[in-house]
Amino acid sequence: MLKIAIQKSGRLFEDSVKLLKDAGLRIENSLDQLKAPVRGFDAEVLFLRNSDIPKYLESGVADIAVIGENVLREKEVDVISVEKLGFSKCRLSIALPKGEKYEGPKSLNRLKIATSYPVTLQQFLTENGVDASIHQISGSVEIAPNIGLADAVCDLVSSGSTLIKNGLVEQETILHSEAILASNRKSSIQKSVLIEQLTFRIRAVLEGRKNSYIMFNLPNEKVAEVVSVLPGLKSPTLLPLVDPKWSSLHTVIPEKEYWNVIPRLKEIGAEGILVIPIDKMIY
Ligand code: PRP
Repeated sequence: MLKIAIQKSGRLFEDSVKLLKDAGLRIENSLDQLKAPVRGFDAEVLFLRNSDIPKYLESGVADIAVIGENVLREKEVDVISVEKLGFSKCRLSIALPKGEKYEGPKSLNRLKIATSYPVTLQQFLTENGVDASIHQISGSVEIAPNIGLADAVCDLVSSGSTLIKNGLVEQETILHSEAILASNRKSSIQKSVLIEQLTFRIRAVLEGRKNSYIMFNLPNEKVAEVVSVLPGLKSPTLLPLVDPKWSSLHTVIPEKEYWNVIPRLKEIGAEGILVIPIDKMIY
């Protein structure tokens, strides 16, 4: 049985559960459970504290986990990064109070920086030859300069609103992060079949999320022109309509491209354009 670790609470929780469900794993949990059986796959889900997951993964308590790259990097564990998952994108940045001058890493010399990421921050400071002191705190980092605990902060930034609310200005990004699927090295050999099966399912879900199925009607004489603007898979499907002068064209296009492509299709003469989400996609 594969032991899958996910965050017990926090920003990754909902997306992690949704990803597993979309991959066909039915998690039979009640909210107070720390371990839940799974139907539809030979696995159980462990709900763990975010900061504990890397060690549990490295030691084999969990075989595979959904975890932020930022946490894995901070804990310096030896695990395998299997797949980037495309959610919980954020950055680890250094921010200073508004009005403070910043002219590159050297401006941090002799400052006291509050952070929950002392290892990652120290690596950045060392690489840049900066002599600053680190004040480690486990939460509410952005308040530190306001209450006289530190001169600067190094914390996760997503929308940036927490920094703004606390009168801080983001000056240096030291790490970009998103949720990833990571596995234990030993489990990866012993349970390779299960890990491959789960990864296959998850990749199919992620590919589906990145693409849309589109279909529309068009006059036959416009087919070549329409095909020339489509970025889709190898070759689109063309089906005859009852009206012999018209056809229906079906294809898959990357989500990031369809708002550019659709107006062009309309200009050429496409009608009745439907954009449909894809549940799973396997190349
Ligand atoms: C994180 C981080 C910041 C905030 C940034 O905290 O520590 O405080 O999000 O997000 P924003 O740029 O969108 O404002 P989170 O709420 O995840 O909880 P934490 O304090 O437990 O890290």
